[in-house]
Amino acid sequence: MTNKKILITGGAGFIGSHVVRLFIEKYPSYQIYNLDMLTYAGNLANNSDLNDKPNYHFIKGDINDSDFIDGIFNDFGFTDVIHLAAESHVDRSITDPLAFIKTNIIGTVNLLNASRKLWKTEPNHLFYHVSTDEVYGSLHNENEFFTETTSYDPQSPYSASKAASDHFVRAFHNTYKIPCVISNCSNNYGPNQFPEKLIPLFINNILTKKPLPVYGKGENVRDWLYVKDHAIAIDVIFHNGKLGETYNIGGFNEWHNIELIHLLCKVMDKKLNRKEGESAQLISYVTDRAGHDLRYAIDAQKVMNELGWKPSLQFEEGLEITVDWYLANAEWMQNITSGEYQKYYDEMYANRA
Ligand code: NAD
Ligand code: DAU
Repeated sequence: MTNKKILITGGAGFIGSHVVRLFIEKYPSYQIYNLDMLTYAGNLANNSDLNDKPNYHFIKGDINDSDFIDGIFNDFGFTDVIHLAAESHVDRSITDPLAFIKTNIIGTVNLLNASRKLWKTEPNHLFYHVSTDEVYGSLHNENEFFTETTSYDPQSPYSASKAASDHFVRAFHNTYKIPCVISNCSNNYGPNQFPEKLIPLFINNILTKKPLPVYGKGENVRDWLYVKDHAIAIDVIFHNGKLGETYNIGGFNEWHNIELIHLLCKVMDKKLNRKEGESAQLISYVTDRAGHDLRYAIDAQKVMNELGWKPSLQFEEGLEITVDWYLANAEWMQNITSGEYQKYYDEMYANRA
């Protein structure tokens, strides 16, 4: 089916902007509708290169507003949905859980309801829900990995809200036969990530010579995937995934936070012509995140074996490309950090010293 009209939610955010770009460029016959409320995390500068593309359409709006959502489904007749819009930052979920319940759970159900009403039982539609490995909880044994059959055990308000949204997608598939797939991905990094997340926040602090706030002892482990590899996985699953299935996506690339931070400091010293070891002097151990998950590690064999996807970049290479992007896009960072960001930063980090 070439005349698809795909609604991509959260397309002005970090991962969504890469998914929108990939679909716009790779599938000129698809009409792509980017629905985004432009919260603090949404940024039209992430898609400004796409404005002149004839198959790109931007809609500003809130997925929590069910009348508005029903209205745009009727007006545009979307054939498919790729749902990324969410509140996505764990630390913010600890200070304001309700915002996560609203957008991540109610917003998702609003989209499912609108899809159900428009598509009824017609075939050839797809609701693709983009989720996270955090729904599986925290690993404590180094030989364990999250697979698609690992029980859900979310530990933060963010992951609890994403877990609930996954359950609703499955419930709509089971009850109303909504054609759906879900993918659960590990930590993404790359261009356009909002500097509240570890890597861009630390890049910005190194640039401005501010302390690097390492939570706890920096011993937590995350599995890192380059954002464009995630977008490619979403493309592959969107086109070839089996209805009703879940696919885990990951980089087979685990790093203790503190080791990653030392690598980042080294790359930044080189790029900024600073003495080796200079940036690492900014490392400052601070109060740990409440309920901090120790380790995430994804077993991504299913999407690799069944659909032929695999990560394309080594982490060292991806990290260097990422640093280069932030250095070349100082204005992008400046525009974000000159506004409300400073207030967020002061409130979030004031009590961690
Ligand atoms: P992000 O915070 O960078 O972007 C979220 C986008 O959603 C923003 O553009 C924001 O404006 C929009 N949005 C928020 N609330 C909205 C609302 N009520 N209505 C409409 N738009 C709204 O997030 P991200 O890091 O790009 O994550 C995208 C998705 O991928 C999320 O669902 C997240 O749970 C999931 N995910 C993220 C990662 C990661 O490492 N960042 C990993 C796995 C899964
Ligand atoms: O695993 C997928 C998830 O990865 C996504 O679902 C989330 O949307 C995304 O935000 C990310 O969650 P994390 O909590 O793992 O990412 P974050 O960048 O916030 O933190 C990464 C690690 O670094 C984590 O162990 C906490 C630590 N950290 C983070 C910040 C912001 C610090 O030590 N200091 C910091 O200032």
